[in-house]
Amino acid sequence: MGPGVTETVTSQRQRRRSILTRVVVMNGSARSWLFLCLLAFAAAPGCGEGAGGGLPTSLTVVPITDINPDPSIVEVNLVASPGQTRYLKDGPADVWGYRDGAVAGSVATVPGPFIEAKPGDSVIIHFTNELPEATTIHWHGLRVPNAADGTPSTQVEVAPGGTFDYRFTTDDAGTFWYHPHLHSDVQIERGLYGALVVRGGPEIPVNADRTFVLDDVKLEATGQLSEVTSPLDLMLGRQGNVILANGRAGGKLEVGTGARERWRFANSANGRYFNLQVPGHTFTVIGWDGGMLAEPYVAQTLLVAPGERYDVLVDLTGMPGDTFPLQTIHYDRGHDIPDPGPKTVFDVVLGKAAAQVGPTPTTWGTRPDLPTDTNTAVREIVLNEKEAMNPGEEPRFFINDTSFPAVAPIQGTSDRVEVWRVVNDSEMDHPFHLHGMFFEVLDVGGVAPLHRGWKDTVNVPMKTTLRFAVRYGTAGTWMYHCHILEHAERGMMGTLVLSSGT
Ligand code: C2O
Ligand code: CU
Ligand code: CU
Repeated sequence: MGPGVTETVTSQRQRRRSILTRVVVMNGSARSWLFLCLLAFAAAPGCGEGAGGGLPTSLTVVPITDINPDPSIVEVNLVASPGQTRYLKDGPADVWGYRDGAVAGSVATVPGPFIEAKPGDSVIIHFTNELPEATTIHWHGLRVPNAADGTPSTQVEVAPGGTFDYRFTTDDAGTFWYHPHLHSDVQIERGLYGALVVRGGPEIPVNADRTFVLDDVKLEATGQLSEVTSPLDLMLGRQGNVILANGRAGGKLEVGTGARERWRFANSANGRYFNLQVPGHTFTVIGWDGGMLAEPYVAQTLLVAPGERYDVLVDLTGMPGDTFPLQTIHYDRGHDIPDPGPKTVFDVVLGKAAAQVGPTPTTWGTRPDLPTDTNTAVREIVLNEKEAMNPGEEPRFFINDTSFPAVAPIQGTSDRVEVWRVVNDSEMDHPFHLHGMFFEVLDVGGVAPLHRGWKDTVNVPMKTTLRFAVRYGTAGTWMYHCHILEHAERGMMGTLVLSSGT
């Protein structure tokens, strides 16, 4: 580290300290905010360190039952229902989750059953709602017909006791996830989410291909989900005090020594940014939201914002018996959140030597190349927020100075290529998500990204403008929003209304 770099770090720290000091001497909400903030990261039960104490540590997810013998049709019964799980040894948590309706006596799990398909498969989901309130299921990242997108703009909400069939084909290989699109800040937090992986693309020899849905929960000492939503939770997205991978705190992953594994990550947390690292190891990023990259790249840390997915290869080197963590480290997402230090997501335990696998492929995905020039239409979307100023008020979140549902729809035509200029005018990052189609990031703060690939969710850093190009998908009403669920549910959401243009 050169002297220049050290200096920058020091002056940032000084700036931070002075901001914190300033906040403390202010009155009203800002002060209680900081207080809550420090509390949330200090003495909370479990405090992110895993539950331990005899709870199961396995990180495997249960695949759903395909009731259709046709190999090109995936047909399943998925039920949303109340259930119980145990995140801490102190006691059970009442959750909402999905269960496999084809298995008699099945119970809701967090995450829900794992759904797998191949490119081109027909997927039929017979959904039943056993929750005490209405819900829907959205297939995050999948290019589904508009009628299957699972939002209040595309369907009548599924009432308690109601059913709905979702039908789509899985056109793109990749890692996706499913979740409700109604009161999502509450429903997803309670445990309603699951992974959907479409396996395809180049054959990559690995010792294991695993999917991890990352989340955090705010637990009371009893082990129950906290019912308390603080102003800080609203501002940042609910901050959990216990970190989960596949619904497990303190999980252990046993792998072969020297194994090459493929790990797929999806971030289902309301607001937590996972900034992943495995000390002494690197990630080779091979894909993200919209599938395989044209060229892999090596990363020391992997920032996974809410809603995003990353697909990586990891070479698990070391000696049999070695244990090391997958951890999440601090990322400065704005509003001067203090660094809580590294938190373990799960521990990796090296077992006996892994079988040697073949070499990685030489060709991967295709490079997105959307035709844009100075004549391409540009849509401008300004993200903003307003802090609560008085006790009892909630913060508000805006798109172009209005809050959903008052946000004017963007009208477009299928197949047309346009540029979206997303201006983050606020003091914190916002992960921006567009339904039903992929986009290609052109630049962030005027700088072209180092790596190219298809995205459906992208982090827009505070006080920064990000541009992406998108070829509009099929006709219908497609939502776009911040994937910090408290923000989406408090106004930072809009619609893109596409007509078929024929
Ligand atoms: Cu994860 Cu509107 O979605
Ligand atoms: Cu989505
Ligand atoms: Cu946001």
